[in-house]
Amino acid sequence: MLLASDASRADRRVSPSADSPRPLLDAVELAAIARRLGGEITRDYPDGVVLVALLKGSICFLADLVRELPVPCELDFLALSAYGDGRTRVRVVKDLDLEVADRDVVVVLDIVDTGLTLAYVLRLIALRGARSTAACALLDRQSRRLLPVDIRYVGRVISNEHVVGYGLDLDERYRNLPGLKVADPAELRAEPSAMFERLARR
Ligand code: PRP
Repeated sequence: MLLASDASRADRRVSPSADSPRPLLDAVELAAIARRLGGEITRDYPDGVVLVALLKGSICFLADLVRELPVPCELDFLALSAYGDGRTRVRVVKDLDLEVADRDVVVVLDIVDTGLTLAYVLRLIALRGARSTAACALLDRQSRRLLPVDIRYVGRVISNEHVVGYGLDLDERYRNLPGLKVADPAELRAEPSAMFERLARR
């Protein structure tokens, strides 16, 4: 006997590879996002800004964004690591080299999920005396948010799906894909090398 709940589950069931991987944003669309956000940051900081990029996922986005800023601009990098029970706390693995006291700082991330990382970094930079702080995220996966965080510059809001490429990884792979792809993590982990070829083709 097919119960209503079974039927509903069956309706929702899709083959994991039916639309995985699929393109999310290609290089042209990513460049347009960097141009738009670069324009907004340029408008807001005509006298210049310090960009603090979160390693490693933001590297491709940062490289495109910074070339859209025709204002004085300094770059620095922070690397954080989760510890304890998952994502509830983070520790600094690579600290800033620049002094940010009395500086206007924009934190650059590839993606904001729970918001824990961004909240931690904004607090860290504020505690070091920055004149102002703001956040710029290529992707905002709002459905995973645990902490409310203000992201002034947002490239694209995405649904609760896994994204790789353009700096974003799964188990440190796939960062070097030129575009962003949505892919099923289980499929990626099952055949990582074969999946790289599929991702690169699509
Ligand atoms: C990812 C991403 C953000 C953070 C966002 O980094 O690059 O820094 O997680 O997650 P949250 O909003 O839940 O805190 P990750 O730890 O995967 O490191 P990576 O950038 O080196 O891949």
